[in-house]
Amino acid sequence: MSKEKILIVDDEHLIRWSLSQPLIKNGYTVDTAESGAEAQTKISTFRPQMVLLDIRLPDANGLELLERFKSDDEDLIVIMITAYADVGSTVEAFKFGAEDYIGKPFNLESVKHVIEQAFKKRQLKVQVEQFSHSIEQQIDEDRLLGNSPEMIDVFKIIKRCAETNDKTVLIQGESGTGKELVAKAVHLYSRRSKAPFFEINCAAIPDNLLENELFGHEKGAYTDAGKSRKGIFELADSGTVFLDEIGDMPLPMQGKILKAIENKRYRRLGGDCDIDVNVRIIAATNRGLKEMVEDGNFRADLYYRLNVMAINIPPLRDRKADIPLLAKYFFELFNKEYNRHLEDISPATIEVMSSYSWPGNVRELRNSIERATILEESRFLGPNNLNIITDPKTDSGTLNTTMLSENKKMPGNNQHPPATTNSSNELQITLPADGISFGEIEKTIILQALNKHADNQTKAARYLRLSRDTLRYRMKKFNLL
Ligand SMILES: Nc1ncnc2c1ncn2[C@@H]1O[C@H](COP(=O)(O)OP(=O)(O)OP(=O)(O)O)[C@@H](O)[C@H]1O
Ligand SMILES: [Mg+2]
Repeated sequence: MSKEKILIVDDEHLIRWSLSQPLIKNGYTVDTAESGAEAQTKISTFRPQMVLLDIRLPDANGLELLERFKSDDEDLIVIMITAYADVGSTVEAFKFGAEDYIGKPFNLESVKHVIEQAFKKRQLKVQVEQFSHSIEQQIDEDRLLGNSPEMIDVFKIIKRCAETNDKTVLIQGESGTGKELVAKAVHLYSRRSKAPFFEINCAAIPDNLLENELFGHEKGAYTDAGKSRKGIFELADSGTVFLDEIGDMPLPMQGKILKAIENKRYRRLGGDCDIDVNVRIIAATNRGLKEMVEDGNFRADLYYRLNVMAINIPPLRDRKADIPLLAKYFFELFNKEYNRHLEDISPATIEVMSSYSWPGNVRELRNSIERATILEESRFLGPNNLNIITDPKTDSGTLNTTMLSENKKMPGNNQHPPATTNSSNELQITLPADGISFGEIEKTIILQALNKHADNQTKAARYLRLSRDTLRYRMKKFNLL
């Protein structure tokens, strides 16, 4: 563990000296400042975890400094140095977030005790936060299922990746094949499982904010940076960072990530100090990264660096042996969740499911079973409500679906595809001649459903025949939350 850094701020040389000597002997890294101005500079260059701050300084009021330090970085531990006459100010200091105080003249033993206790308390707080984060993860955890030979191979690779502990992992597979579940499984089976798992969707975060999210910033790094903030790399310390949809990461950011992985260190935005990286990186994408490298849209050096361990999840159509198991699992899950008392899935339904190509993979299977379980009126789950299109050959310009929609125009959204319903209530979307991303269509439909239901997510989800969680997941994906 890195040595804790303490900054001593006092205008009296003797005090700075008599405090710093024993602290250095006790293994702390110590620096000093004799004025408020110098303290302010050293906070950003030396980056202490703790400041021992004199309440009276020649050029500044200690309380005002305290307030400023805490508003810039609320994690900074500040211990006030006071004279006994300053009882009133000491009480004020607690209000502004001081952790404790030491009174002049000092008793060195009690100074050491106060410092140790403050660090211990802080460590405990971090542990509690990290622990509750990892517990949440485990409770939330969906089960990763599969009994096809292809998935058994995937399980073996997950285990091997988990055992390596720090090696970067690249997960590739079509949308809905379970990349996120696989990433969480690698984390949970690794020695990092007690530490946090942080996920960032590179496609959902605007390019200019991505670096900030990953590396954090110092106060004043840009116009709105009123406070310093930790990035995901720091928050996930000792754990795992999952870079989802890495194929959408802009090229300049790819260079910065590569540098951080190679040097095992990085800087906050606007920072002067290196921070050590102790996280495992798992990246995922549903885009062909290799082709992107060939086309110059993804850095070859980052691709090879990420691809140290590769997990390729086959599409569901290539591992149909998984369908009965997954179908049964989702059926039981939703039968219980919606308090339906259906007896089972009919064998004919399993057959229909097994002959379908599932372009949306396991996610589509899950959604389809959820909808069918809600709508089924007999005792057995039949194929009618699965809403799968068994003949995928529709015409080239129009997306046909049995979903109903109203064409309500969204303000400021006029670049989204226009949608109308025809007399048979089929949703018709006129696709632009030069192509459109599928995500854009999905986002438009979500926005319209929310608009139709006055932003009520539960109603919008019901309308789209999705669970609220699935809707929220998608909203998060499109940065709508
Ligand atoms: N093997 C599996 N066992 C159980 N559930 C699964 C499995 N694979 C996927 N799922 C479920 O399918 C849904 C989609 O999975 P996930 O989000 O991990 O896919 P993804 O590959 O990350 O998709 P995208 O590329 O669109 O982000 C989730 O609800 C997940 O719980
Ligand atoms: Mg995903």
